[in-house]
Amino acid sequence: MAKQDVKDLDWSNLGFTYRDLPYSYNEEFKDGKWQNGGLTTKSTLTFSEAAEELHYGQEVFEGMKAYRRKDGGINLFRPDMNAKRLNNSAERLVMQTYPEDKFVEAVKAVVKANQEFVPPYGSGGSLYIRPFMVGTEPVVGVTASSTYTFHIYATPVGAYIKGLKPMPYVVSEYDRAAHAGTGQAKTAGNYAASLLAGKKAHDAGYAGELYLDPREHKYIDEFSGANFFGIGKDGKFYTPKSESILPSITKKSMLTIAKDLGLDPTETHIDINDLDQFTEAGAMGTAAVVSPVGSLTYKGNKHVFFSETKPGPVTQKLYDTLFGIQEGDVEDKYGWVVPV
Ligand code: PLP
Ligand code: COI
Repeated sequence: MAKQDVKDLDWSNLGFTYRDLPYSYNEEFKDGKWQNGGLTTKSTLTFSEAAEELHYGQEVFEGMKAYRRKDGGINLFRPDMNAKRLNNSAERLVMQTYPEDKFVEAVKAVVKANQEFVPPYGSGGSLYIRPFMVGTEPVVGVTASSTYTFHIYATPVGAYIKGLKPMPYVVSEYDRAAHAGTGQAKTAGNYAASLLAGKKAHDAGYAGELYLDPREHKYIDEFSGANFFGIGKDGKFYTPKSESILPSITKKSMLTIAKDLGLDPTETHIDINDLDQFTEAGAMGTAAVVSPVGSLTYKGNKHVFFSETKPGPVTQKLYDTLFGIQEGDVEDKYGWVVPV
C-alpha cells in the first residue's frame, strides 16, 4: 500500500478510513524489558504464524485524537487517561504494561512527525491515533506471551458519524462482552464479538447496535464503539453503570461537563423499558464525539427521542462544549488539553 500524499486529501470528506502516513511508532518487549522504540516509516508488522495474538487474542488498543486549534497549534485530549486504560486493559489480558509517560511522549512524537496530516481547524476532521499492543510469542498452548509489540499509527479522519445528525439504532440480541468478561478492557475480541450484530443492524438500515447487560438483558450497556447517555424528562444527564462496558474517557469528561452545565449527572442502571423517561439520547466516545440517537428499536418497537432529523438542545450543548474544549475554543478548566 502506497504512503498517503497529503496533497490528495479532501479535508472535508475524509470519512473514517485508514490512510498510510509517513510515520508510526514501534517498540518491542523481549528479554524481560522494553527495547527502546521510536518512530519508524514501517507500517507493516511481521509475526510468527504461531504468534499468541493471532490465536488467543492478546491484543489491547486505544483510540485518541489530535485536534487542530484556531491558532494552528495541535491539542491532545487527556492522553494520560489513554495510557492508564491501555495498561488496565493489558493487565486484564495478562500482558505487559507500557510506561505511561513514555506512552504520551510516543503519541506526541507520532503527531509531530505527521503534523501536516492533522486536518485544518474548522474542517470537522482530526488525526485519529491508534496505540496498540500485541503478544507476539509463538505459542501452541493457551498461555500468555513473553514478547510484545507496542505500536502506534495515526490516520486523518472526519467525524465517525457525520455532523450532529440523529441516527436510528437497534437493540442487539447478542452480547459483546460477558458479565465478568472483558467488557472493561479495550481488546480486539470484544469488537470481533460485535461484528455479526453490527452487520445485521446495518443490513436492516440502522446506524449501529446497542447492547444490553449480558446477565439479565434488562439494562442498557453501551454501543459497539461508544457509551450511551440520555437526558431525562427531569433535565438530568444519565449514563449506564455497568461492569461490562468500556470506561470511556469521553463519558468521564462528560460527567464533569454535565455537572458544570447543571445537569446533575448520574451513573445508574437504565432499564431498557424506561426509554420514555428520556427526552434526548446519544452516543459518546472519541470517534463518536457526541452523536444524537434519533431512535432506538427494541423488540420491533421503535422509540423516537427528541427528533429523527435534528439534535436536541442539550445534546447540541454537550457536543459544543466537549468539542470546543478539544479544539481549544472553550476554556479548559480542568487541564484536559495537552498541546503537542
Ligand atoms: N465504548 C466502546 C466499546 C468503545 O469502543 C469506545 C471508544 O473508544 C468508547 C466506549 C468510548 O471511549 P472513549 O470515550 O474513551 O473513546
Ligand atoms: C474510538 O472511539 O476511539 C474507538 O475505538 C471506537 C471504534 C469503534 C472506532
